[in-house]
Amino acid sequence: MNISIVGTGYVGLVTGTCFSELGANVVCMDTDEVKISKLKKGIIPIYEPGLTELVERNYPGRLRFTSLISDAVAHGDIIFISVDTPTLADNTSDLTNIYNAVRDIALCMTGYKVIVNKSTSPVGTGQSIKREIQSILKMQGKPFDFDMVSNPEFLREGNAVVDFMCPDRIVIGAESIKALEIIEELYARQAALGIPLVSTDIETAEMVKYASNAFLAAKISLMNEIANLCELCGSDAGIVSEAVGLDKRIGRHFLNPGPGFGGSCFPKDLRAMLGIAKDNGYTPKIIKSIIDVNEEQKVLMFRKIKKTVGRLKGKTVTVLGLSFKPGTDDIRESPSIAIIRKLLDGGAKVKVYDPQAMKNTQSQNPDLNVQYCQNTFSASIKTDCIVLATEWDQFVCLDFDHLKKLVRTPVFVDLRNVYNSDDVKKYGFSYTGVGRS
Ligand SMILES: NC(=O)c1ccc[n+]([C@@H]2O[C@H](COP(=O)([O-])OP(=O)(O)OC[C@H]3O[C@@H](n4cnc5c(N)ncnc54)[C@H](O)[C@@H]3O)[C@@H](O)[C@H]2O)c1
Repeated sequence: MNISIVGTGYVGLVTGTCFSELGANVVCMDTDEVKISKLKKGIIPIYEPGLTELVERNYPGRLRFTSLISDAVAHGDIIFISVDTPTLADNTSDLTNIYNAVRDIALCMTGYKVIVNKSTSPVGTGQSIKREIQSILKMQGKPFDFDMVSNPEFLREGNAVVDFMCPDRIVIGAESIKALEIIEELYARQAALGIPLVSTDIETAEMVKYASNAFLAAKISLMNEIANLCELCGSDAGIVSEAVGLDKRIGRHFLNPGPGFGGSCFPKDLRAMLGIAKDNGYTPKIIKSIIDVNEEQKVLMFRKIKKTVGRLKGKTVTVLGLSFKPGTDDIRESPSIAIIRKLLDGGAKVKVYDPQAMKNTQSQNPDLNVQYCQNTFSASIKTDCIVLATEWDQFVCLDFDHLKKLVRTPVFVDLRNVYNSDDVKKYGFSYTGVGRS
């Protein structure tokens, strides 16, 4: 099969690379020429475990990169759109990139194509894209047929390759049998593994993506709220979440108390849901609360650190982890960065270390006045508090013996509840977790 991917970011690059690994001929296109020229030199612009190896195996060969939309459209019988869809301040989705991509695609079309929208976008976007393409084709006097499909993406950064190859389900929203069969054939390898294909209409497929993210984010916010209550009542939120998660109806994922969710999806998609609801004259109470609890959680985590350290002015705080979760260099809406900003506002000096996300933090937050360090040890020299903000593997087995010799004050704040309080205390550190008194 010949596939083109328009928008070669986290989703597009993983999608294109994985399809090439599964045997398709893939062209990945992006308007970011720097990104494309790096990819052509074999430089992978994102950190995603396993991705580099897959790109190396398929490029050059079944995988190609281009910044020319004409090239991508000429190549692909199936054209995926995977451009970014940020949410604006008024909670509406900014679909500029989608419509730019759609217009570019339509102008280059010379025959039947299946256009697949993988970008997360409000219900109704698929139909609106269809109308846009129809009108461009009509204006140009091109009598071609095409089909519109919605195929939302559920991959998790940090686990994206595995998630793409072996997802929990594949959702296909299509209007024609022909398009449905083409996309089903594309995913035949995954279907053969027993992965359910849910085929539905375009509008329902679009909603599945938002509904899934709302459920997951709700679990996180609810658990954080319960953890805050545990802290006040003297219960241990770690054990509460473990026991609650053993109930099969609830499940154990997304129940670890912490600083709240971040990343490119949950915050953006939940805000977009508020926008979708407003457009339809509905006021969703739970979705609004999920967002509010998440925002408040970052403030509570800052207060937790402040309470432990005391007056921040003149103090140094070490923050371990900048990405919104381990396994990725993505810092979009990372709670760690929000907490660092509050520490800096409070007058603390902040030293940071992250195994993958420092470059992105520096380039995307040029105003963030922190000291970037080479490793955990250099970040901990003469510090008054070590904050574990993102649970990267290397922060899960810290050498507290050595750290004790480096710090000014042995204070450890574990925002991910990675450690047992007694295990840390035996090295002479004070320990503060989340949802534990
Ligand atoms: N990142 C995730 O974990 C994830 C998971 C599921 C769904 N999604 C959704 O997938 C979509 C893409 O997300 P992402 O994280 O990959 O975004 P991203 O910002 O990493 O990548 C988007 C890419 O699209 C390119 N682009 C923008 N306009 C373009 C155009 N007109 N033509 C060609 N390229 C263009 C950008 O240069 C960029 O490289 C979003 O809607 C997002 O909500 C993301």
